[in-house]
Amino acid sequence: MQFIDLKAQYAALKDEINANIQSVLDAAQFISGPQVKELEQQLAAFVGRKHCISCANGTDALQVAFMIAGVGEGDAVFCPDMTFISSTEPAKMFGAASVFCDITPDTYTLCPESLERQIKAVLAEGKLTPKAVVAVDILGNPCDYDAIIPICEKYGLVLIEDGAQSFGASYKGKKCCAFGQMATTSFFPAKPLGCYGDGGAIFTDDDTIADLCRSICVHGKGPGGKYDNIRVGMNSRLDTLQAAILLPKFRALADYEVDARQVVAGRYNTAFAGKCVTPFVLDGCVSVWAQYAALAADTEQRDRIIAHLKEKNIPNMIYYPTPQHALPVFKNEPTYGEEFKNANDYCSRTFSLPMHPYLSAEEQQLVIDAVLEAL
Ligand SMILES: Cc1ncc(COP(=O)(O)O)c(C=O)c1O
Repeated sequence: MQFIDLKAQYAALKDEINANIQSVLDAAQFISGPQVKELEQQLAAFVGRKHCISCANGTDALQVAFMIAGVGEGDAVFCPDMTFISSTEPAKMFGAASVFCDITPDTYTLCPESLERQIKAVLAEGKLTPKAVVAVDILGNPCDYDAIIPICEKYGLVLIEDGAQSFGASYKGKKCCAFGQMATTSFFPAKPLGCYGDGGAIFTDDDTIADLCRSICVHGKGPGGKYDNIRVGMNSRLDTLQAAILLPKFRALADYEVDARQVVAGRYNTAFAGKCVTPFVLDGCVSVWAQYAALAADTEQRDRIIAHLKEKNIPNMIYYPTPQHALPVFKNEPTYGEEFKNANDYCSRTFSLPMHPYLSAEEQQLVIDAVLEAL
């Protein structure tokens, strides 16, 4: 059994993927081939955004977003304490401070009350300028945008949706990656929409932002093209090969993979109800279940479950073992007395189970039996 079974997905889509790879090899247009534009158009239409600008990975996508937001020295970028380092890593590289906020105890996403508390604390101290909020749809589960957007508006902050894990999910009828001035995603192989290497994208409705993204991703090119460099940019493009691979994978995600993930999560939820804390999705929302993360009663029980799963050869992971504020790299970030109670609690009890659209009913049962035995 695989934790995320990319081989099973390839077997299902092999003919299309192979044909697409072959057509790129035949055409030999490895950079900015027609498949890149085709993919961008399809993804923008799916998400309901005017623009999709592909790039080399999800971290670059965030870096571009921070550059456009003007994040720099002396700025504060707010971000949930439970995420992957990429969510604020590029902002740190620009000299900004990462100001972490607690997560909610149920969705495990950015807690709106903690966000506002941290913004007020930054303003009260008067040393940093609040600049941007990174709302992370962690584990594929959308943030509470109805609560977060008014806070960003109230304090004039740029909202960036980090949808690295949530492509295919939705919040109250609107697809993830449709929120904020800019939203970013990742096509890292294990993501809900993953390619066969690194890839990422930025989504926006704003024509000016879209033009800036396209310029920054190609060495700050100007209207005159690649050698008309008008700003400092990056070399961050999605390879034609990766776009060609993503096209059939995107269709599979939209046609049946998101639904198949709901079936697996539903089965786990039913089996574990009342026995451990199962993931919570807000009303009217759809998680894409990038991960299925449950909570044990405490760390000891979590470690017992993991040991038992290991004994039964059932793959498992911890997403994430350490909250951001406790990472060595962030040890000097200002915390303003925030206790990160929910993030600490979550990280000490969480365990993730095999989750992908090709997980058979028999495999699901093996996972369920093993967890229940351990419990
Ligand atoms: C929440 C989050 N943001 C950003 C990223 C960065 O994506 P990439 O690995 O494509 O750079 C990841 C990848 O793991 C992620 O999980």
